Amino acid sequence: PCVDIVKELEEKCATPVSKLKQIADAMTVEMHAGLASEGGSKLKMLISYVDNLPTGDEEGVYYALDLGGTNFRVLRVQLGGKSGIESQEFAEVSIPPQLMVGTPEALFDYIAAELAKFVSEESEKFRLLPGRQRELGFTFSFPVLQLSIDSGTLIRWTKGFSIEEMVGKDVVAELTKAMERKGVDMRVSALVNDTVGTLAGGRYDNKDVFIAVILGTGSNAAYVERAQAIPKWHGPHPKSGEMVINMEWGNFRSSHLPLTEYDTTLDAESLNPGEQIFEKMISGMYLGELLRRVLYRMADEAALFGDTVPPKLKTQFIIRTPEMSAMHHDTSADLKVVGNTLKDVLEIPDTPLSTRKIVVEICNIIATRGARLAAAGILGILKKTGRDTVKDGETPTTVIAMDGGLYEHYTEYQHCLENTLNELVGGELAKHIKLIHSNDGSGIGAALLAASHSQYI
Ligand code: BG6
Ligand code: GLC
Repeated sequence: PCVDIVKELEEKCATPVSKLKQIADAMTVEMHAGLASEGGSKLKMLISYVDNLPTGDEEGVYYALDLGGTNFRVLRVQLGGKSGIESQEFAEVSIPPQLMVGTPEALFDYIAAELAKFVSEESEKFRLLPGRQRELGFTFSFPVLQLSIDSGTLIRWTKGFSIEEMVGKDVVAELTKAMERKGVDMRVSALVNDTVGTLAGGRYDNKDVFIAVILGTGSNAAYVERAQAIPKWHGPHPKSGEMVINMEWGNFRSSHLPLTEYDTTLDAESLNPGEQIFEKMISGMYLGELLRRVLYRMADEAALFGDTVPPKLKTQFIIRTPEMSAMHHDTSADLKVVGNTLKDVLEIPDTPLSTRKIVVEICNIIATRGARLAAAGILGILKKTGRDTVKDGETPTTVIAMDGGLYEHYTEYQHCLENTLNELVGGELAKHIKLIHSNDGSGIGAALLAASHSQYI
């Protein structure tokens, strides 16, 4: 019966502090391994070539392109040095799903066309001086092996993108060709991951930002590492002594992770089986799908929705995380939102309150596991960087810049993550660790990095 399935799920998804600590330790071990050598770990620990974060002195007009979340954005920022951001304007469009699995040309032409449109609609005041080129920070949120600050090859796709032909190719070269085809005269001066962009944007606002975490469609983290602690880095020693590392933590896996049969089948039937296991347990693209899989089993084995399995429940990804979140946050006495969502999304007409309650319980189990695991990931970074203990004298303040639709909109998830992190680090240290929401910081961060790598300075 239903209660047994719920109970089993709850047990398998349990994340007591002891387990979270083991996961954080495993994360730390993998971080060391990934920094030691290329291919040394499932954690790629990618070198970003960002060895200087924004100072606040950046000046001029710069552009950013942000590709890899739910939406695609074009942004222009006017940086006024000490006086901060003077103006900012952006355009946002969703990416047509067929372009996510089509050809590189189709995807990049679409992006370049949006860029062309954005620039053509600009006011006189942004006209360039003769001989000058517009400069662009490109936030491309997939694993990229950077060759320099402004070039890098795609390692593989994640989050439902799959354009085989692109793998191994230089992302900036593809974008540059598409810009030429569309008559856009712009130079990409920085190629960054969204986590790196968020870290840069966060640092511009707050000098204590040291880590950035994205919890959106996918999930990932970046942080500031000591260059000395990166054995696989053979380039020149940066003046700052630091290097930003894009962890690609979505691909973390460990025997300590509380995996269930639902995770295993979700992974097996995904576009990237065997990859991004941590991401598939914690990020927005997958939480709703995990819920669907549990509901399907309960409908099939315990007649949760009556004698037959509602046909819609068989469709992968039919329950999206925003809908799961809406159900989870339903505070009405008769769980009206749950009832309506089941009706609208799954075409299940009338559900008794007892059924709706079970649905909320499952949302809670899945979201809680995800948020607690994300907190364990953050603890792993704190441990690796020695920021997990209170020091005699000065304990540094660690600010973590957070962004992504899941963090922003799924309140229960956000609160659970914060509470868990406090629980993990303990009272005294918790005073020195802050999570801030860095809204769309990655676009601004990319523009700031374009500014500090401008060809004109
Ligand atoms: C945005 C950032 O706010 O969040 C993007 O600007 C990032 O760079 C995105 O990729 C991730 O969130 P989602 O929910 O769109 O995947
Ligand atoms: C996926 C991508 C990663 C990105 C994250 C958040 O995990 O591989 O590069 O940072 O999603 O958008």
